[in-house]
Amino acid sequence: MILVKQGEKMPIVLSIGGSCINPDGNPDVKFIRDISKLIKESNEKFGILVGGGSVARVYAKAARELGASEFDADEIAIMSTRQNAMLLLQAMKDFAYPVVFEDFKGARKAFFSSRVVIMGGTIPGITTDTDAVLLAEAIGAKKLINISNVSGIYNDDPKKNPNAKKFEKMSYEELASLGAASDKRMAGTNFVFDMLACKLLSRSKIEAHFVSKDIREIENAIKGKKHNGTVVI
Ligand code: UTP
Repeated sequence: MILVKQGEKMPIVLSIGGSCINPDGNPDVKFIRDISKLIKESNEKFGILVGGGSVARVYAKAARELGASEFDADEIAIMSTRQNAMLLLQAMKDFAYPVVFEDFKGARKAFFSSRVVIMGGTIPGITTDTDAVLLAEAIGAKKLINISNVSGIYNDDPKKNPNAKKFEKMSYEELASLGAASDKRMAGTNFVFDMLACKLLSRSKIEAHFVSKDIREIENAIKGKKHNGTVVI
């Protein structure tokens, strides 16, 4: 089902890493204001998925130390994604649907009356990468923009390997093989892009753009202009 009327533009999904909203326990209020302004001034429809970042990782780790199951570590991490989503919503109150959705059907319903809908995580065992692709499928988006503190997809971790090479363009299969190499399925562990999310991108042929939190980069990706990140098609 595609939720657009004739002549209307296709919606775009923005997957915003928790590390962009809250890099180290201190929310980046300037970034939140800037991205909200960009979205407000755009005439596109947006489904927004917000991640948990370091706060999710710290809580999942502490929970495990206290004997939590992986299910509960995930549940705690999901709360961090929703907290970040709620924070973002405060800057978008005058144009976004005023609720952080916890499920895709609710978000899809709200999309009929709102140009911008925001979600956090949903169920244990996945990450917000997968949630973002599922949201894209649910609302009929064919473009997903993944915003993180890394400026694209590299062949190795650019923070550890200064010679890591950034891909300008890559296929779903190439992205999936990188995802598989780092998929540990543990709360708060870092994937390039969740492997399940790669598979879902591929099955629905959703064009994915991986960019940094630089507002000009995000704007270029939204407007279909060239950016310095990676395009996966
Ligand atoms: P994120 O998607 O933010 O993880 O979810 P991440 O990939 O580590 O995030 P960034 O890109 O660095 O910000 C945080 C954690 O929340 C749980 C998982 O444990 C995940 O690792 N989670 C999230 C779920 O269990 N289900 C969800 O739907 C979303």
